[in-house]
Amino acid sequence: MRSICVINQKGGSGKTTTAVNLGASLAGRGRRVLLLDFDPQHSATQWLSPRDAGRGLFDLLAGPDSATLAGLAEPTEAPNLSLVGSSAWLVGAEKALAAEPGAETILRGKVEGLPPGAFDYMLIDCPPTLGVLTVNALTAVSEVLVPVACHVMGVQGLAQILQTIERVRLRLNPGLRVAGILACRLDRRTVHGVEVEAKLRGRFPETYKTAIRENVRLAECPSMGVSILSYAPSSHGAQDYRALAEEVIGQEGQSTTEDHGTAANE
Ligand SMILES: Nc1ncnc2c1ncn2[C@@H]1O[C@H](COP(=O)(O)OP(=O)(O)OP(=O)(O)O)[C@@H](O)[C@H]1O
Ligand SMILES: [Mg+2]
Repeated sequence: MRSICVINQKGGSGKTTTAVNLGASLAGRGRRVLLLDFDPQHSATQWLSPRDAGRGLFDLLAGPDSATLAGLAEPTEAPNLSLVGSSAWLVGAEKALAAEPGAETILRGKVEGLPPGAFDYMLIDCPPTLGVLTVNALTAVSEVLVPVACHVMGVQGLAQILQTIERVRLRLNPGLRVAGILACRLDRRTVHGVEVEAKLRGRFPETYKTAIRENVRLAECPSMGVSILSYAPSSHGAQDYRALAEEVIGQEGQSTTEDHGTAANE
């Protein structure tokens, strides 16, 4: 199983849009995908699941050891895409885990407990903060994908998040690697958009070839309860996320999972 954390401490950079639509696009290509909503704002859950996820994820992290990820996974409208939903309960997890020894590795243990071969991908939608939840996510995965909004403010702070990832790699998760940086909300019709994209690609060669264009259909689809593939399959947004899924699938051979918590599922 490939496990990818979608992360950027900047709010509104396209994390949730990417986690859901990339998840649906990978699922559309026959991959079995588990999406974890790790954000107490629970935007991905509100998008894909009509009911309140309650304290499930909170219990998984801060409750009895018997709680399992597989027990919380629910099907979504997209075939092959399952969701572990979040709720405002998760706010309490930061506090509950602060006093817990070894709290950083709780999710890793739960991922190891997934039934072998149940999923091909696990994607984690992270909150725009660098607290204990985000560190848990970074410790439980083998790869990170960093969506960046293509304006000047979006690119600022990218070095900082890459530094945080590097610190987690050194201290907690030696095999952690950057799968790619993703240019999001790109408007190539403006000089500004073109310049920011060029700067991003110049400074960070690990930027995916695919960029996600600004597309109003992407902003609309969360209120419809479905991914862009169901809502507007021929839109630029759907084209871009399908192309991203192809690029991510193209990396499959390169992924190194043997020295991670996820290795148990190989
Ligand atoms: N390519 C795009 N085109 C148009 N709108 C977009 C695009 N990507 C994201 N959006 C919109 O921008 C807003 C922020 O996106 P999103 O929620 O994915 O960011 P986020 O990084 O998850 O935010 P947060 O940090 O709050 O969790 C949302 O309203 C979303 O619909
Ligand atoms: Mg989000």
